[in-house]
Amino acid sequence: MKIFNRYTPLQIAIHLYAWSALAWITFELLTGSFSINPIQELEQRTGRHAITLLVLSLLCTPLHTLFKFPELLKRRRTLGLYALLYATIHVLIFINLDYGLAWSLILRTIFDKPYIIVGAIAFLLLIPLGVTSFDVWKIRLGKNWKRLHQTVYLIAPLATLHYLWSKKGDILTLSGDIARPAIYGLILAIFLLLRLSPVKRYIASLRSRSLSLPFKKNPHPKADAT
Ligand code: HEM
Repeated sequence: MKIFNRYTPLQIAIHLYAWSALAWITFELLTGSFSINPIQELEQRTGRHAITLLVLSLLCTPLHTLFKFPELLKRRRTLGLYALLYATIHVLIFINLDYGLAWSLILRTIFDKPYIIVGAIAFLLLIPLGVTSFDVWKIRLGKNWKRLHQTVYLIAPLATLHYLWSKKGDILTLSGDIARPAIYGLILAIFLLLRLSPVKRYIASLRSRSLSLPFKKNPHPKADAT
């Protein structure tokens, strides 16, 4: 099929995930399958998709380091842009459906609830990354492009903190609703650790050691064959 020549399976999977999640939410909304608090459910589901896509975009580089799969590096932008799309829908639901554009109430809520301030900072920082994610900006910004896009390593922990803080429970015993956001935080922490230079060097040395292992065991394989 032509579509498989133009798109790789990974590309198709990413687009399918992003659009089918949106289509499913719309379908459930139209058929009245949401809970008794549909606005809260909408807010929560779009927030969860936003953070999932954001974390997935961050996993691309360390997964490439581990498994040497260069296509992952090309997919970071798509995942990041979808994360921004879901975060924008999430924020629009909060501003429009939840608070009916009552700006003074919105501002009061933002400053009353620290987890919303954290989410708002993450969102505001995410916008310039989405806008400048295209090649034309890469050329225009030169070295500053990389510096700007490294803020994603601040944005993702902020978004995870926003998620964790929005839930009731105890982080130490993982009671209440804390388990899921804590798992996100743990995955993020592990993969951010993999980005550190000493860890990268260690992985590279492990890989080269495992590649050279057969030769060390048997430096003259032909001699054995006789
Ligand atoms: C101006 C920015 C933001 C505002 C005002 C905001 C607002 C909210 C609110 C009010 C909730 C609580 C919903 C509830 O349980 O009743 C929430 C939860 C959440 N938000 Fe945000 N948010 C913002 C930015 C973000 C961003 C940037 C992300 C991710 C990239 C995000 C991800 C989440 C997640 C994962 C939850 C928890 C969903 C759940 O309960 O399962 N938010 N947000």
